[in-house]
Amino acid sequence: MRAQIIGTGSCLPEKIVTNDFLSTIVDTSDEWISSRTGIRQRHIAVDETTASMSTEAGRRALESAGVKAEELDLIIVATCTPDTLVPNTACLVQSELGAVNAVAFDISAACSGFVFALNMVDAYMQAGIHKTALVIGAETLSRIVDWSDRSTCVLFADGAGAAVVRAAESGVIASTQGSDGTRGGAIYVKNRENYNPFVTEQKPMDYLYMDGGEVFKFAVKKVPQSILQTLEAANLTTEDIDWYLFHQANARITATIAKRLKVSNEKIPMNVDKCGNTSAASVAILLDEVNRKGMLKKGDKLMLAGFGSGLTWGTMAIEWCI
Ligand code: ACO
Repeated sequence: MRAQIIGTGSCLPEKIVTNDFLSTIVDTSDEWISSRTGIRQRHIAVDETTASMSTEAGRRALESAGVKAEELDLIIVATCTPDTLVPNTACLVQSELGAVNAVAFDISAACSGFVFALNMVDAYMQAGIHKTALVIGAETLSRIVDWSDRSTCVLFADGAGAAVVRAAESGVIASTQGSDGTRGGAIYVKNRENYNPFVTEQKPMDYLYMDGGEVFKFAVKKVPQSILQTLEAANLTTEDIDWYLFHQANARITATIAKRLKVSNEKIPMNVDKCGNTSAASVAILLDEVNRKGMLKKGDKLMLAGFGSGLTWGTMAIEWCI
């Protein structure tokens, strides 16, 4: 049995922040942000939380799949911005949805999180351990971004996306995933406050740091390699893929990857212009968008690709079955 996506959902915060607004709080401009990244606006959580958006995205995915919460036997939330360290976000979602029969836990793999979580569900389903899962990618990156640092605050945003997955004869075809912890310094949030009485030097709470150039170089090299590996394992070529759903980090990264793989831009839906970089949520939000627009046909082949902090990367070829 393989993991088959049978429904999708997403939830974005109500508040939309434009590039022009950001130019009133940091020294930037719409021209700089949109030409360097493709981002024109992003959604920022005010009242929403990682758990509340996860729950809403999950509810919408269950509705679209026609699955009751009690049927779920697994909930995984991929996030690096949980509201609480304990309990995990997935347990909060379980409680809100009434998914009383599910085991629920989070994974942390930044922008690769949703693809890693789907891969994990696929492994569980191949092993016959779980049958019906809810996989969620969710972030409130606005809480870990330094809003006085123009090099990062213009990039990151909030949101959640979800997929209901069932064990079935078809679905995931093949996947590749990897990590390179030696390059963890490219994107990190180091310190939490520590009031341990044995620690003499109290370090202040830290914000997200990113070496943008390093991440750019990593993504445009590693993602095409990983996609080619996945295609080989799936016995497919780049032309066989109908849709490439990339992590929405930066339109220039996606364009460079497409050029390297000689893939037409028409096969690469994007929403980074509207949503910014929502890390673990981005592939899931995009998947829901293309699904709800009716762009996906039964039998289409999709390539999902996540990449980011760790550094981590994951690509997955799936057959669309609904
Ligand atoms: N507005 C105006 N100027 C800016 C801004 C801004 N928002 N941010 C940086 N600058 C300035 C810099 O200070 C620098 O000025 P200087 O030349 O006077 O020193 C100049 O613009 C160029 O800065 P660079 O960082 O070299 O700009 P670059 O063209 O490389 O673009 C960017 C930066 C967009 C971050 C690019 O490196 C990139 O996209 N990297 C990939 C990052 C990414 O995708 N991260 C997401 C994956 S990780 C994750 O999702 C968790």
